[in-house]
Formats: sequence, C-alpha cells, structure tokens
Amino acid sequence: MRKVEPLRWNNGVLTLIDQRKLPHQEIFHDYSSVEGVHASIKDMVVRGAPLIGFTALFGMVIAAKNNANDLTGLKEAGEYLKTARPTAVNLAYEVDRALGICESEITEGRRDSLYQTLEKFSLDQMEKLYRDNLAMAKIAFRELTEKYGDKKLNLMTLCNTGFLACGPMGTALGVIEYAFEQGRVNHVYASETRPYLQGGRLTAYELTTSGIPHSVTVEGAFSYLMKKGLIDAIFIGADRIVENGDTANKVGSSTLAIVAKHYGIPFYTVAPTSTFDLSSKTGEEIEIELRPEEEVLEAMGERICPKESRALNPSFDVTDHQHLTGIICENGIIKDITPENVVKTVRG
Ligand code: MRU
Repeated sequence: MRKVEPLRWNNGVLTLIDQRKLPHQEIFHDYSSVEGVHASIKDMVVRGAPLIGFTALFGMVIAAKNNANDLTGLKEAGEYLKTARPTAVNLAYEVDRALGICESEITEGRRDSLYQTLEKFSLDQMEKLYRDNLAMAKIAFRELTEKYGDKKLNLMTLCNTGFLACGPMGTALGVIEYAFEQGRVNHVYASETRPYLQGGRLTAYELTTSGIPHSVTVEGAFSYLMKKGLIDAIFIGADRIVENGDTANKVGSSTLAIVAKHYGIPFYTVAPTSTFDLSSKTGEEIEIELRPEEEVLEAMGERICPKESRALNPSFDVTDHQHLTGIICENGIIKDITPENVVKTVRG
C-alpha cells in the first residue's frame, strides 16, 4: 500500500492530512495563516509530538511571510502557536528555534531573505528527523538482538508514533518497522488508545500500509496480554522527557509501564533529542493537557454516556523513570536513568 504524506509544504502553503478522518477518508486541508496552523494543532488535524513541532515551524515560516519586518509580530505569532497544545515540548522547542533565527536574521539586516532561510531550516529539520529516527531504530534493534538473539518477536505499542506523527519515519513505530524489515517481527499489538483511537485508527493503518501482522487491543487488556506471555518487548514514543527521565506520553503509557514491570517485560521510550526538556527536573513539572469532555462522552460523534455524566479527559500521563527499561534517542540508549546520564546523552 502507498504511504500518504501527513505534511506537505509548497510555495507558502502548508497542507496537512486530516488525521481525525483516517483510515477511511484521506482529506487534506491547506493553511496559509498562523491562526489556521494554530487551529490545526489544537483541533488535532495534526498530532504527534514531532509533527506538531514541524507544523509550528511552518506556522513561523507563514508568519515570516506575513510579518517579515516586524520582530514583535513574529514573537507574538510564536507565543500564540505555543498555546495550541501544552504537553508536547517539540512545539515550544521548534517555535523558539524559529524565533532565534528571526532575531539574528533581522538584527543582522537579512530581513529580505528571512522567509527563505526559515523555510530551508524547517525542511532541513524534517530530513534530520528521518536520519535520527533511523539511528534510533538501529540502536533499538541492537538492544533487541542482545536480549533475544534472532528470535522473531511479538512487540507492543500504544498511540501512534509512526510516519503520521513524525513525517517520513516514526520513532517507536519506526523501531517496529525496522525490526520487521530485518525479518524479526512476528506480531504487533497496537493498543487502541482511548478516547481518540490513535492506535486503533492510525497505528493499525500504518501497520497495514507496511504489511505488518497486527492485532488491535484495548487498554484494559494490558495485563491479559503480558500474563499470557504474548509480548516480548514494548516500545512507545514521548511528548516530553525531563531531566530525571520521567516521560509524558499518551494517557495509558504509565499504566502499561507499571504492568510491564510487574511481568518483567522490557519497556522502552523512543524519542529524538528535540523531545527532551532539560529545563524541567521531574515529571511533576509537566503540564498535562486536559481535552474536551465530549471525546470521552461520545463515540464516533454519538453520545454514549448519560447526558448528566461528566468526563475527565487527560490526554497524557507521566511514566516514572523507574518503570522504564531504557530511553532511546539518536545519541544512544540510556539504561541507567539518572539526571547526569540523561543530560550527557542528550547533549551528545
Ligand atoms: O495526542 P497525540 O496524538 O498528539 O499524542 C501523541 C503521542 O502521545 C505520541 O506517542 C507522542 O507524541 C510521540 S509521537 C512520535
């Protein structure tokens, strides 16, 4: 099956596939205003930490096109984009990098070429992530080989961390695809990921695209699967990893890690260095996004709970670093997870 491109940039227009409609409909939306880009992130047309970061970068390219002479306007656009979703650090990270470029280009009198400079920078970052994701997949593959030799493995993941979340290649799902290409994957269990179903809709779609045998499962089946011995290792992505290794990822990740630890199943977080927030010491400092109640109270646009019921809809949770077997980034794998080792590995 053909792979769709989740993000395209063409002559000042950002085109995003509407991930809320996948897998059954491929609908694309064009954006040429900062407000539109902000809405695309907030309303989850686009999602996944790295792709949110790239979308915001192109939002800044659009801002530069519209406000090329005005640093104040660019800063306002950047701050506005950052408010779209709070947990994935890639958003603020990419906006701040774009603002750094705006500041130096304008101060040094290169305002006429700012748009082209930012555009090139943004496209280069997507290329870089592809190389970084490949490096992470190879590191993870070495780890699996050390642990399991050439056994064909049953792997598990949660949410969506593939090309739809990253561009050309995924993080945790990139690891799984790479291992499959090396002939080392027997079966993949994709947790459906309530309430937004990124696992059931998007990961299953990507696994289908790559021809990888898989089963979608519900979050409540974590213990069943592991007690039965159906899982050899688990790989998930991250939205923010702080200095001590505590990791925010899609809600349910922490439960999955705790159950995996109980059954002695290796559990890895896979994320590029752009997902690390070394300015926060522990997971306590991570802001967890609370999303609209309707996402829980309704299914496929229809109310399923009594009309009197309320919902609590945290989009992420924090996995304590003690529950991780390892954190994999493009610079290596951190198995002894201490602040010193996290900082040393991330800084390269
Ligand atoms: O709410 P989402 O779909 O943006 O959440 C995405 C996740 O939690 C992913 O696991 C994370 O962003 C890593 S993507 C490589």
